[in-house]
Amino acid sequence: MRVTAAIHRAFEIAKIDDRLYAAFIEHMGRAIYSGIYEPGHPQADAHGFRRDVAQMVRDLNIPAIRYPGGNFVSAYNWEDGIGPKEDRPVRLDLAWRSKESNQVGINEFAIWAQDLGIDMMLAVNLGSRGISDARNFMEYVNHPSGTHWSDLRRSHGVEQPYNVKMWCLGNEMDGPWQIGHKEAKEYGRLADETAKALRQLTPGAEMVVCGSSNDEMPTYPDWERGVLEECYENVDYISLHKYFGNSSNDTLNFFGKVEETGRYIQAIAGVIDFVKAKKRAKNDVYICFDEWNVWYHKREQDSKNWKSWDWPEAPALLEEDYNFEDALFVACLLNEFIRRSDRVKIACIAQLVNVIAPIRADKGGKAWRQSIYWPYQLASLYGRGTALRVSVDGPTYDCAVADDVQYLDVAATHDAAGGTVTLFIVNRHLTEAADLRLALTGFEGASVIGHQVMEGHDLRATNGPDSEAIAPAEGSGLAVEDGTLGGSVAPLSYHVVRLK
Ligand code: AHR
Repeated sequence: MRVTAAIHRAFEIAKIDDRLYAAFIEHMGRAIYSGIYEPGHPQADAHGFRRDVAQMVRDLNIPAIRYPGGNFVSAYNWEDGIGPKEDRPVRLDLAWRSKESNQVGINEFAIWAQDLGIDMMLAVNLGSRGISDARNFMEYVNHPSGTHWSDLRRSHGVEQPYNVKMWCLGNEMDGPWQIGHKEAKEYGRLADETAKALRQLTPGAEMVVCGSSNDEMPTYPDWERGVLEECYENVDYISLHKYFGNSSNDTLNFFGKVEETGRYIQAIAGVIDFVKAKKRAKNDVYICFDEWNVWYHKREQDSKNWKSWDWPEAPALLEEDYNFEDALFVACLLNEFIRRSDRVKIACIAQLVNVIAPIRADKGGKAWRQSIYWPYQLASLYGRGTALRVSVDGPTYDCAVADDVQYLDVAATHDAAGGTVTLFIVNRHLTEAADLRLALTGFEGASVIGHQVMEGHDLRATNGPDSEAIAPAEGSGLAVEDGTLGGSVAPLSYHVVRLK
């Protein structure tokens, strides 16, 4: 198939917020315990954190991480995780029917995040708790000294406050499964008052209010309108969550879900604009897509398991094995985030280690990178700077979730400081190569300085502790001639092409 496309130096979408490549990790399953933290493991450091896992995280260049939940946060007492470890209570985690040992709490997590240069994005419990506990938590975390909670932190060996800037006001409060689930107005009021209180403590702190748990919720998108009508002026972001799957074994429809996500983003952008106009507000609210990933391979079985098990500690849960098809899907989804970087400022892959994660770690054993690790890494490394418009003219397909889906999915970023342009290209066609001609206006003299490709794998192939065969390789066959990037893009392939 022939595909013509074009970018222009002056046709910018938006400056990309680095936090578009953020992550999420929750106290659930083996994400924390025997994921990032496993004292006694041969790779454990002095604090009990696994060095092998930490290195894989470091290589992702993650700017920020949302913690400690998720559904977990809605019944979490943050104070259970501070002070001497031997005095910390074991609690029942109501969200995942597990035992929480509290051996990792805010101070341990901060050590891990600081060591990796990742900013914390902290969620407060607005399910079983409220304003008072949220402000206590923030005082412990952000106040310098001279008060009950800040001095308690200092007595725990942390002299300097963490100055955490990003705060999430609860989690998925529209979901009937959530501890402390609320109606939109009820939650919107609570979020508004909590945001105001927290900002008294940390002026300039950024507030993320909960949007719908996904775009199939019966209350979507009225939930967003109802919530924002209560708190618009006091929040900075509204969260979106969406998980994806291919249970019907229809690859093109799976890939088409990226278009569906575009509609989701567009709808919420519309709701934001509506509420802004209605309130005659001056401030802008952006989207924080703080949970996204593929989640379906073991979902049904997992949900049967955890609903009936007898409160195990750090059980294997949601340990999805990602295949090559999932990697191509993640590449397309990240392209969509780049294209919508005008409205989506923060996005968090959910999650980071073991639980629906790009990194897996066997207890006592090896860690490995799953297929989806790579598109996430390549976007995080090279998808910075400014997003450029890409016009694509090529064959399209219709599927259950969307019509007119371009087979060739392309996003482009321009790093003016480094003088580089990066093109992220996925050929979603099952059998046909694309003969691509992409005109580069305003980038005279640019040539290919790097080309990485993922291609040629069985769609169902996965990585494991002893094989990481699904990984980027050196690409070839795309070159710039007369200001046009041209060449052949194989079916079912992902390319990251860097020009300078
Ligand atoms: O990431 C797993 C779970 O998915 C989170 O706890 C919850 O917020 C979402 O439903």
